[in-house]
Amino acid sequence: MMRALVTGGAGFVGRHMCRALLDKGWHVVCVDPVVPRTGGLEPADWPAGDPRDFGGFEFKKMDCREYFRAASGEPFDYVFHLAAMVGGRLMIDYEPLAVAEDLAIDAGYWRWAEHAKPVKTVYFSSSAAYPIGLQRADSYRLLREDDIDFGDSLGMPDMTYGWAKLTGEYLGRLAHSRYGLKSVVYRPFSGYGEDQDQTYPFPALTQRILDLDGPTVTVWGSGRQMRDFVHIDDCVRCVLETMDQVDDGAAINISSGVLTSFTELATLMLERVGKQATVTNLSDMPEGVFARGGDTALQNRLGFSPRVTLAEGVDRVAASLAERAAAA
Ligand SMILES: NC(=O)c1ccc[n+]([C@@H]2O[C@H](COP(=O)([O-])OP(=O)(O)OC[C@H]3O[C@@H](n4cnc5c(N)ncnc54)[C@H](O)[C@@H]3O)[C@@H](O)[C@H]2O)c1
Repeated sequence: MMRALVTGGAGFVGRHMCRALLDKGWHVVCVDPVVPRTGGLEPADWPAGDPRDFGGFEFKKMDCREYFRAASGEPFDYVFHLAAMVGGRLMIDYEPLAVAEDLAIDAGYWRWAEHAKPVKTVYFSSSAAYPIGLQRADSYRLLREDDIDFGDSLGMPDMTYGWAKLTGEYLGRLAHSRYGLKSVVYRPFSGYGEDQDQTYPFPALTQRILDLDGPTVTVWGSGRQMRDFVHIDDCVRCVLETMDQVDDGAAINISSGVLTSFTELATLMLERVGKQATVTNLSDMPEGVFARGGDTALQNRLGFSPRVTLAEGVDRVAASLAERAAAA
């Protein structure tokens, strides 16, 4: 039986990753202290069902740094390192030193991996690692994996969050070149899904539209800022379908290659739930970079392309939020 360690496995991406591995019949060790103000949930509250119902699921409610220090010597075929202080845009912009904790989490991870030698490590970086200079209103394009070039000059990433991810990627490259660890890095763009925490814009905007009883709906910032939305089912499928094709610590985007502005997203959501309103903006709220979208050539070459369209994703999130409200 394959054995996987998933750090941060109680979070949004982690829950889906754990579930996909359990469905494949793997033994899954999930290490997560369920940090307040992250997307982490206690196993009993996982929307897709309590993972402890699977015999192969082990939950260690602890900081992964403690787990790494204890160095249990458990052997793993795959390690999915997802643990991070992420939060939404507010945390990234206004609590940069809280997010900088990710530097310590990742340093602990790579030090542990050097000694524990899992057969393969899967490191979750982020599209926030890309240079913000390539994401400006007057000059942007889809971001290619080689826009981060550790051999030459590096651009400024997005706040401490992007900085930590860039460092984590660099440590992973060293783990491969100096210690022979097999690893692959993923740079997800804007992942979203039915059970994502409401501090993220996709579910928050869907909820505002479902609750709408006035003539306007608001989006943060100018509303012109654009993101590349990828449904969580596609994020997980991308990892599972491509992770065995890269071993040298190189990165793969998880993206759709389609840029959608928040005003366009709100308009699509209104249309899909059958409501009419004017989309207005809140310019005093942060909007992050102007345009963040990921080139898809590499993932396509590796045999992956997303399946869930944005319209379908909106329908699924709206249906799930409406169902939860009805149940409450
Ligand atoms: N969701 C996305 O679209 C997206 C985009 C880019 C990158 N990522 C990356 O994917 C990973 C998961 O993100 P997410 O969206 O699921 O976030 P999340 O906030 O839902 O989950 C993060 C999890 O990490 C846990 N955690 C925090 N500190 C920890 C520690 N010291 N030890 C163990 N666990 C700890 C939290 O309790 C939480 O359960 C992160 O590394 C994130 O940077 C996600």
